[in-house]
Amino acid sequence: MYRLIAVDPRHPGGVALAEATRVLRARGLVAFPTETVYGLGALALDEQALARVYEAKGRPTHHPLIAHVESEAQARALARSWPETAARLARAFWPGPLTLIVERAARVPAAVAGGASSIAVRVPSHPVARALLAALGEPLAAPSANRYQGLSPTTAAHVVKQLGDRIELVLDGGPCEAGIESTVVDVRGGAPRVLRPGAVGIEALTAVAPNLHTMHADPAAAETRASPGMDPRHYAPRALLLLAPTRDEALTMARSLAEREDRPVGLVVREAAVGAGLPGLVEKTLPGEASDYARLLFATLHDLDDEGVCAIVVQDVPDEPAWWAVADRLARASTAAR
Ligand code: TXA
Ligand code: MG
Repeated sequence: MYRLIAVDPRHPGGVALAEATRVLRARGLVAFPTETVYGLGALALDEQALARVYEAKGRPTHHPLIAHVESEAQARALARSWPETAARLARAFWPGPLTLIVERAARVPAAVAGGASSIAVRVPSHPVARALLAALGEPLAAPSANRYQGLSPTTAAHVVKQLGDRIELVLDGGPCEAGIESTVVDVRGGAPRVLRPGAVGIEALTAVAPNLHTMHADPAAAETRASPGMDPRHYAPRALLLLAPTRDEALTMARSLAEREDRPVGLVVREAAVGAGLPGLVEKTLPGEASDYARLLFATLHDLDDEGVCAIVVQDVPDEPAWWAVADRLARASTAAR
């Protein structure tokens, strides 16, 4: 059973950090805030601790984890080679929500990488994550702190809901700033490739790495990406999530569902509100700007699940690079379980 310690997100206290490092060194699991979503931390170089991460998440053991480190130097120590592109991207975006895929050093357990010869590394910018890594002095494996295929957590309460009975400690540092996961870029050989669109935008990346290969957010094309663990179904609420091309179609779809179903139906539109005010319809309005929308998306889906809706109809987002990370999460969340 978990314990929860509230921490000041800007100046985390020594007692909380000491307790977190004690639990981690005993091969325990500690959820902590990052600038993207909450992570489920465990010693990245310890096979037993890693096994517990996979078990707590219910995640297949061939799905690789991200090693969180304090510095580029600590990242390099986990890599067999450190390409020039890695150095350039690290300098531009670390600390921050960018994950780099490089070749894995032989001394790093294969389990952290789901058995792959590569490894994912990132230096987070959240003060709690940084202070924890500094106090620990070694890399932390940290997938998003949710059950396999579930909704990513952007608050400590979201973590507790899914993993409360499976982990030792939650550091509650309030809601996450970005609300969507890091951008994953493979920098092994040739041009760097985006494997998962995320909190660092494509335009910002391209400005630093003009030869960047971007892939349109299309989960059907996931098979073609060299990113294990990128299931078509992912980031999904309990309720069935349906995408509607326009706001009017979203309203029509939600209304007809609400008429047929006993349970309420969720409707998520972008500004401005539809204001349907229909019985059985729970309406949520998200911002019209992509990063503001991303910050609130997972929390909104968590809220609708908590309200017991049977389905969530979401007005689809624009087909523009700024929206790719959000479009990717929505498409995956709407892919029916196989
Ligand atoms: O923002 C984030 O990245 C959050 C916070 C906690 O840092 N973490 C996160 O971890 O999203 P997770 O495990 O939920 O997602 C890891 C992603 C997956 O899409 C996985 O396929 C990819 O990173 N990945 C990890 N290691 C990889 C590898 N060796 N090769 C290719 N893709 C990898
Ligand atoms: Mg995840």
